[in-house]
Amino acid sequence: MQDLIQQAAQAVRSARRTIALTGAGISAESGIPTFRDPGGLWDRYDPEEYATIEAFQRNPGKVWTMMRDFTQLKTAKPNPGHFGLAQLEQMGLLHCIITQNVDNLHQAAGSRDVIEFHGNMRQVVCLSCRKVLPLDEISLATLPPYCGCGGVFKPAGVFFGEPIPPHALYRSQEEAQSCDLMLVIGTSAVVYPAAAMPRLAKEAGARVIEINPEHTDLTGWVSDFIIPEKAGIAIPQIIAAIKAMAS
Ligand code: APR
Repeated sequence: MQDLIQQAAQAVRSARRTIALTGAGISAESGIPTFRDPGGLWDRYDPEEYATIEAFQRNPGKVWTMMRDFTQLKTAKPNPGHFGLAQLEQMGLLHCIITQNVDNLHQAAGSRDVIEFHGNMRQVVCLSCRKVLPLDEISLATLPPYCGCGGVFKPAGVFFGEPIPPHALYRSQEEAQSCDLMLVIGTSAVVYPAAAMPRLAKEAGARVIEINPEHTDLTGWVSDFIIPEKAGIAIPQIIAAIKAMAS
């Protein structure tokens, strides 16, 4: 494992432009369940019933019961994985983060350049007047919650069947094609178009390093190597190795 950590540290140190793609796995150590791991969110909630835009339009109250029960989204704090990426950005070694996560934890850890590929579930948007509010500012006493204009509020994350925010998609493609190193952290890489970003980077000549306790669809053909470790352990170790190389 130490050898892989050293290789990753050397790669980050010598890269011209490093970016990261993150998924639910980086927030697992903050107590937020992932989607597809055993006991994950999609084990408890059928995504066809709770995570498609059709499901929301059909029965917004039902979808909001999941959101209300998903208390971790409100209480979770960043972990050493999030803080490590913020530190790499401050060290000038990480250009930006493309995140599939909707939990605002990268920003809470101090990361400044975060592309929210799937929106942000710590906010709500009115489906009529498009007003956006922090989730904390609305009452979930009665579901679904309604806007003053009479429209229904929807969590401001991207539901299956909704388009990726155009700016996030366009910028992510740009960043993937102009980086020379992509760290792919805590994603099973099965949901597109996010899962296409590592291959875009690879085809543009970049190296791709995964950090994930489990192999993914990228392992062995898109990624150069995988560090089979938790993000909250591997990322601080990579930073320590970088600092040791510099001293
Ligand atoms: N550190 C790093 N990786 C981890 C950790 C950890 N501590 N714990 C779990 N993982 C890995 C798992 O092995 C798995 O490969 O994180 C991955 C989580 O995969 P998913 O649950 O499929 O989550 P993600 O890839 O982010 O899902 C993509 O699917 O449901 C939609 O919109 C949702 O953004 C989400 C998208």
